[in-house]
Amino acid sequence: MKIITVIGARPQYIKAAVLSPALRAFAQEVLIDTGQHYDESLSRVFYEDLQLPPPDYHLHVGSASHGIQTANMLAALDPILQEERPDWVIVYGDTNSTLAGALAASKLTIPVAHIEAGLRSFNRQMPEEINRIVADHLASRLYCPTEQAVANLAREGITRGVRLSGDLMDVLIDKTPDDPGVLSRLGLSPGQYALATVHRAQTTDDKESLEGVLQALSDLPWRVVLPLHPRTRDRIAQFGLESWLLHERIHILDPVGYREMITLERHAQAVLTDSGGVQREACRLGVPTYILRNETEWTELVEKGQAILSGVRYDEIMAAIRRASFVRPMRREVFDPVDCIVKDLQRRS
Ligand code: UD1
Ligand code: UDP
Repeated sequence: MKIITVIGARPQYIKAAVLSPALRAFAQEVLIDTGQHYDESLSRVFYEDLQLPPPDYHLHVGSASHGIQTANMLAALDPILQEERPDWVIVYGDTNSTLAGALAASKLTIPVAHIEAGLRSFNRQMPEEINRIVADHLASRLYCPTEQAVANLAREGITRGVRLSGDLMDVLIDKTPDDPGVLSRLGLSPGQYALATVHRAQTTDDKESLEGVLQALSDLPWRVVLPLHPRTRDRIAQFGLESWLLHERIHILDPVGYREMITLERHAQAVLTDSGGVQREACRLGVPTYILRNETEWTELVEKGQAILSGVRYDEIMAAIRRASFVRPMRREVFDPVDCIVKDLQRRS
């Protein structure tokens, strides 16, 4: 069997690193990196840290508007898919690389398997929401991380090919040991700092939202570690918001590698984030999590009391912190996403 995997953004390198060895045990995997993320700290570091095999094709699309970036991916993917004629194209998550991979394959009638299917924010202003909806409606195998995701698909009339697989990211979190040096390198003590990440277009592209978040971070009663996505760094400069980061309690970092990140999450007294992956990880690690958004695709985290939706306004975030009470995860789900996906692809090919 031949499988083409299309990836291109930070969380996709991480997810592909979990599944790729299992795929390669029974199939020929051809890895395509679209090049959506190209800074070393968002891409190469994950190939190295997580032993992701080098890509067979690198499309070098780089950054552009959504339409142009997706179009460039489609134009580059089409001849490769025609040449390789895989049995499956696998796409992950909700980025423009996901959309392009699913669309390019579907147009050539190559079946698509979508991993992390069925998540919905019900906010179509988010580019990710459009990408997920389209990918789900094009896919013939849909691997859902949660029961809510299965229900979301059913509401859209999608029931065929749907599997409740659990979340691939859980596999990696659980087996990732601490990076022993990271806290001391940053002068941090366990439980004595908050970790924050901000990168969503929704938060960063609106000056008021970005300023609300930065103002709250600068006013927290804790030291704050903030590994900055390049998009956020650019917007802070563009909107002239640097002054919020001058506070001595805020440590700005470049994006960090996966193991460093998990270590920073594990030992934080709180995590504040607009990232899908980081909110999931922090909750699984039992760390109080403030989701810097007005809605989340991972609704069960809020329902179970592991995370609080704190919005992006200064007042709302500070109020959320004052009234916070969290429930630590009692029981870990017993999914084996790798086994589920691999057996399903083999059985139904
Ligand atoms: C993308 C995904 C988002 C995902 C995130 C993971 C889409 C629409 N968004 O957001 O769902 O959560 O990846 O991190 O696909 N840039 C660099 N260096 C890079 C890449 C980007 O400086 O290596 C800057 C560029 O200015 C670029 C901006 O970041 O315009 C946005 O990059 P893009 O890939 O469009 O989206 P992300 O915000 O990274
Ligand atoms: N991550 C990382 N280094 C960082 C920030 C995030 O390794 O500096 C990891 C994080 O642990 C998670 C994934 O990147 O596994 C989440 O990616 P991101 O927040 O970029 O995207 P999202 O999950 O929101 O799509």
